Amino acid sequence: MNSEALLARAPTADAPAPHPTAPHPCAPQPVPAPPSSAGAVEVDVEEAEDFLGLLHAEHPDQPLTVRQRMRQVRAEIADTGSYAHTADELVFGARVAWRNSSRCIGRLYWQSLRVLDRRNATEPREIHGHLCEHLRQATNGGRIRPTISVFAPDVPGRPAPRVWNDQLIRYAGYRGDDGRTVGDPAHLDLTEAVRRLGWRAPGGPFDVLPLVVDAPGHEPQLFDVPEDLVLEVALIHPDRPEFAELGLRWHAVPAISNLRLRIGGVDYPLAPFNGWYMGTEIGARNLVDSDRYDLLSVIAERLGLDTGSESTLWRDRALVEVNIAVLHSFQRAGVRISDHHTESRRFLAHLAKEERQGRRVPADWSWIVPPLSGSLTPVFHRYYDEADQRPNFYPDETRARCPRAH
Ligand code: ARG
Repeated sequence: MNSEALLARAPTADAPAPHPTAPHPCAPQPVPAPPSSAGAVEVDVEEAEDFLGLLHAEHPDQPLTVRQRMRQVRAEIADTGSYAHTADELVFGARVAWRNSSRCIGRLYWQSLRVLDRRNATEPREIHGHLCEHLRQATNGGRIRPTISVFAPDVPGRPAPRVWNDQLIRYAGYRGDDGRTVGDPAHLDLTEAVRRLGWRAPGGPFDVLPLVVDAPGHEPQLFDVPEDLVLEVALIHPDRPEFAELGLRWHAVPAISNLRLRIGGVDYPLAPFNGWYMGTEIGARNLVDSDRYDLLSVIAERLGLDTGSESTLWRDRALVEVNIAVLHSFQRAGVRISDHHTESRRFLAHLAKEERQGRRVPADWSWIVPPLSGSLTPVFHRYYDEADQRPNFYPDETRARCPRAH
């Protein structure tokens, strides 16, 4: 059987509902919506003040006092309904939004986030160019750098650009006539939508989707992600050569592009950001979830495991092997990745460090605990503060229709 056949999924009659907190892909609506953000509301002065207070408390070396800066901000809001962040405010806001992301285990390095200020870009082509530059700088030949690109905010009377894609690099999913799917089932709707916009789909299991840039005053526009900007890793196993025959691969950079960055009351709907992968995201979710590539049985069979009864724990064994393969392949390819044990320890180091600074660390247990060997990691054995602290990232409810975004 060739790998494409292996990667075709039979229709599942009653696939289990996804984990309630699992990342839920956003399906763009097939027909482009009118600029949905036309109704951006006036910025909440109090939220602006809270943010500037936080910035000044953590970085007292500001050119203006909070009072002076607030005087400007209030006047600007009265005038335009919003206000423009200074470059320093933008950098601080984006970093703190990461620091406050309760679902992210990788926050130890929040201060190193690289912030690319793209607020002036308005034309689809220009926006696409910046998205490509984001991938170039973030990928960095495999030495992945946490990066965010911040595009224009939603301002009353001046809607912001968006992209339809939930990440800058994602694989297409195709519904076959026989009910089978090929590729990533999370992207069936987006794939259909881009085909309607004229994308010629190759029909393979790992086709990188084009970007759909939806900028005010323009029709949604398709752009391919240039091949040389998509670093991918072919998956091999350190001591099971037959694993490579599955023809599996994954992209190196997870760059989330459907969350709205909110800083001091201002919304930035297009602010794609990336870190590096933790192996389990690929090896225990993307390739394995029953509503994603659903490959566990295929992998078990290839490895010759006894799948005759649940109690052989063939699922668990196959899961460990695919995760070994993911980490091994990325490391061999020189692409930054981390394992869940290391990332869990780093997260607790982050917690301790933040607490020493007198700060709360909001965290969501069901997202922080890794989907493999949870109880072997120290993050399992405790509870967390669940506060919603701002700045932060939020699902963009004004974006093209989402069945259930996050
Ligand atoms: N879980 C998502 C994926 O598999 C990526 C989420 C962000 N992950 C990260 N390591 N920054 O594509």
